[in-house]
Amino acid sequence: MKHLGIDRALCAENEGKEVVVCGWVRTFRDSANVAFLELSDGTSFRKLQVVVDKSERKPDPECTKLGASVCVKGVLVKAYKGEGNELNARELVLLGKCPGEYPIQKKRTTLDFLRTIPHLRLRTNTFQAVFRVRSVAAQAVHRYFHEHGYYYINAPLITASDCEGAGEMFRVTTQPWNAKYKTEEEYYSEDFFGVKAGLSVSGQLEGEVAATALGKIYTFGPSFRAENSNTTRHLAEFWHIEPEIAFAELPDVIEIAEDLLKYLIRAVMEECPEELKFFDAFVEKGLIEKLTHVASSDFAVCPYTEAIGILEKENANFRFPVHWGSDLQSEHEKYLTEKVFGRPVFVTDYPKEIKSFYMKQNADGKTVAATDLLVPGIGEIIGGSEREADLEKLLGAMRSRGMNEAAYRQYLDLRVFGSVPHGGFGLGFERFVMYVTGMENIRDVTLFPRSVKNIM
Ligand code: 4AD
Repeated sequence: MKHLGIDRALCAENEGKEVVVCGWVRTFRDSANVAFLELSDGTSFRKLQVVVDKSERKPDPECTKLGASVCVKGVLVKAYKGEGNELNARELVLLGKCPGEYPIQKKRTTLDFLRTIPHLRLRTNTFQAVFRVRSVAAQAVHRYFHEHGYYYINAPLITASDCEGAGEMFRVTTQPWNAKYKTEEEYYSEDFFGVKAGLSVSGQLEGEVAATALGKIYTFGPSFRAENSNTTRHLAEFWHIEPEIAFAELPDVIEIAEDLLKYLIRAVMEECPEELKFFDAFVEKGLIEKLTHVASSDFAVCPYTEAIGILEKENANFRFPVHWGSDLQSEHEKYLTEKVFGRPVFVTDYPKEIKSFYMKQNADGKTVAATDLLVPGIGEIIGGSEREADLEKLLGAMRSRGMNEAAYRQYLDLRVFGSVPHGGFGLGFERFVMYVTGMENIRDVTLFPRSVKNIM
């Protein structure tokens, strides 16, 4: 069907011309001689007013129902009332009827309710704006890395090695359990891959393979976590941006992470001004000011040990009091970034026991060259590190965790054949979209959220 998107159709240069537009009916008003339909098609917030002269033709009543889809041919003219343009209909064709039980009605519906109809919630202004921002941000991710000399790598989604080593992988199997198996190995040996396989929690290990040959690479794809975290920031399936850089140390990783985040924020501000105005008005007051400030000021850097010193003074007010060695909970992360620093902060050099096996061990013997970027309103948005490049130290970390070395033979080879200092990080794409839109629940920035007991 040859037609123009409403955004394009409403360009001043189309005034006086005949255009064809398709969309869904948002409102309908009727008077003695004319009928007014407001159409939207998702291309922008703008709606197109269609004017039907009833003396020429009476509109099909089905075309006037909220949610019906129609195609209109008409002439774009100056609006009779107010500014802008409207379409004087010459032909109005019904594409799809919409019965009265259409759940997206004119009055504002709650996000909780809309979560129960993920297939229809995109017809609302809020979700259309979220997904326009998400699309712009995804394009900006590729642009950033392309402009900075990174290669785009697609890491496998099915894997036999658990990157984060925290036992939170979904299993991939074609083999039902049978009492005839005496051991797990016996069972897995008859499975599709002949070993235990799962959905990847991160493309990092394969990213390291690529970076130690191509120099600078990134992956941008789904990661899967079977963790039982039913929170507003966790999904079982999320999109993960993971750059990996050869000949890089922790300060380089931090610099790149800050630069990427600011680039993405600026891209959204430039390309989605209307959406950000909408979110600022209806979702997070002060959002634009927050983003403008973040895009132009330096992020803070704070070693974990110092952060614990700050947090310990507040222990009485925390649900989970902290001490050196404890993992930071969301309440601690938010306190640091919102109350102490008032801006994004990289916490660095965490105790080795609470971080992953692959992180570079610092000279103090207690900490690793890791960093998490914490941002106000969300907490952790990025996790990264310099990687352990020394074979013996890496083996030591794996052995102390009881890991199966055989499953990581290729990864270990990278430390045998021309090992180099290298590092990278992971940015949760949905958490980024939450940050730039102000949406408070990660389920509202992904098309079909997958979380514990939820696969609608
Ligand atoms: O801190 P994480 O677990 O780090 C890694 O996976 C590393 N392999 C990354 C790397 O160094 N290449 O995850 C990185 C980011 C988190 O900061 C968070 O933004 C996001 O991924 N993330 C999740 N987002 C939504 N739902 C979940 N369950 C998430 N788990 C992590």
